[in-house]
Amino acid sequence: MDIAGKVVLITGASHGIGAACAAAFRKRGALLSLAARSEALLKEAGGPDALVTAGDLTDAEVRQRVVERTLERFGRVDILINNAGVGLYAPASSAPLPEVRQIFELNLFAALDLAQLVIPGIKERGSGAIVMVTSIAGMMSLPWLSLYSASKAAMDSMADAMRIELRPHGIHVIKVAPGYVRTGFHDRALGGKPPAGLARYNKFAISAADCAEAIVRAVERNARNVLAPKSGWCAVMAARFFPWLTDRVLARVNRGL
Ligand SMILES: NC(=O)c1ccc[n+]([C@@H]2O[C@H](COP(=O)([O-])OP(=O)(O)OC[C@H]3O[C@@H](n4cnc5c(N)ncnc54)[C@H](OP(=O)(O)O)[C@@H]3O)[C@@H](O)[C@H]2O)c1
Repeated sequence: MDIAGKVVLITGASHGIGAACAAAFRKRGALLSLAARSEALLKEAGGPDALVTAGDLTDAEVRQRVVERTLERFGRVDILINNAGVGLYAPASSAPLPEVRQIFELNLFAALDLAQLVIPGIKERGSGAIVMVTSIAGMMSLPWLSLYSASKAAMDSMADAMRIELRPHGIHVIKVAPGYVRTGFHDRALGGKPPAGLARYNKFAISAADCAEAIVRAVERNARNVLAPKSGWCAVMAARFFPWLTDRVLARVNRGL
């Protein structure tokens, strides 16, 4: 899909991958509608022409407002980037339920609700894209991010169904699963800390700008399922074909080794 002149709604565009997406789509000539809680950072990320809607996306009224304001300003949404997300470092056996609900409300329900709000308009025009920013954690469960992994696995599964359902209407549903990206994601988690053993894997991390570039390219070529970086496929395949081995490695990292 050619991005120039398209209306792109990006959630979680105040920091990290979302802010980098705003810069990357803007560079390709897109018209931006950005949403997250931090208004000043959204304005910085989007530049003078972007529409900014500040609010908590776990609130259904805020989600409605984001889409309404975008339609008022631009008349349509061509591309939705469901990027806002949050983590929680806690074992599944003791994770606090209120935080778990918050994770699912943002990572799954906000993404679903926003998709449902924009789909009728895109269907009418017969062309558009919905990007689900999932995670490698949704393809292989990470014990230190147990319920976050569960929320991303649910998003991953939902996206696969939506892709089949919406293709006849000209809507491409694209999954982009970041691996390890250098952002403030750890510090903004709802609780807990990553295990010390994870530091060893910092060398595999990519920048937010590289991840955003992977997202933009996925839209341009109507991709199906992208991992950023691509080397993440090695870990996913290992988990699929040698699950006992992956369990052992993950258990060691989880113990801080
Ligand atoms: N970094 C990684 O290694 C990595 C790996 C795999 C997947 N991911 C996924 O990539 C996406 C972006 O992550 P990131 O690394 O860029 O994280 P980040 O730097 O923490 O950015 C998260 C964004 O989501 C927004 N957000 C959080 N809670 C929100 C809420 N309740 N309402 C509205 N906006 C909210 C934040 O903005 P405000 O605080 O201003 O609201 C921020 O703009 C997430 O879905 C994450 O799960 C990241």
